[in-house]
Amino acid sequence: MLNILVCVSGGGTNLQAIIDRINDGTIRNAKIVRVISNNKDAYALERAKNAGIDGICVSPKDYENRDKFNEAFLAKVKEAKPDLIVLAGFLVVIPKIMIDEYAGKIINIHPSLIPSFCGTGYYGLKVHEAALERGVKVTGATVHFVDEGTDTGPIILQKAVYIEKGDTPKVLQQRVMEEAEWQILPKAIDMIANGEL
Ligand code: GAR
Repeated sequence: MLNILVCVSGGGTNLQAIIDRINDGTIRNAKIVRVISNNKDAYALERAKNAGIDGICVSPKDYENRDKFNEAFLAKVKEAKPDLIVLAGFLVVIPKIMIDEYAGKIINIHPSLIPSFCGTGYYGLKVHEAALERGVKVTGATVHFVDEGTDTGPIILQKAVYIEKGDTPKVLQQRVMEEAEWQILPKAIDMIANGEL
């Protein structure tokens, strides 16, 4: 059984997709042991609670500096003894000591086809705003391993999504989630849990 820790910052629809795919058996041999949010008001924590999953908040606001926060965050991660850490809309930079400690065991979902529209400053709606501004006809989502860079780690899965006439950033974000993110993130977890990667 693969023990998963999911890190979130916001709505948690990707977390929900993981919970639902575990419950319906699409993700095999995995369970979520803890959800960590950096934001106490994140609806993702409500989703964890509703699913009976241990959900906690570790916020940088509660620590005097970044090092102290990183220390506390890593302690809460270790306490859960995860085999895999899933960044599902987590908007905090992962400290280097954690990347070293969990090398090859951290994955992230990004809402574009990496290497387009990724790296520092590209997160959430900003990614879709940039894609529409550039006028691309195809975008999508990527699941990748996390290394020391921002969105630079080895790619696991990608799925393309077509831009449609009249798309706004919000409309596109929703389509990318439905057609790509909620599909490939659970799929990647299932592959990792079952030695298919
Ligand atoms: C998702 O679209 C995810 O791909 C994105 O944040 C959103 C979180 O939504 N992540 C990034 O932009 C990371 N660079 P959710 O909380 O509903 O899953």
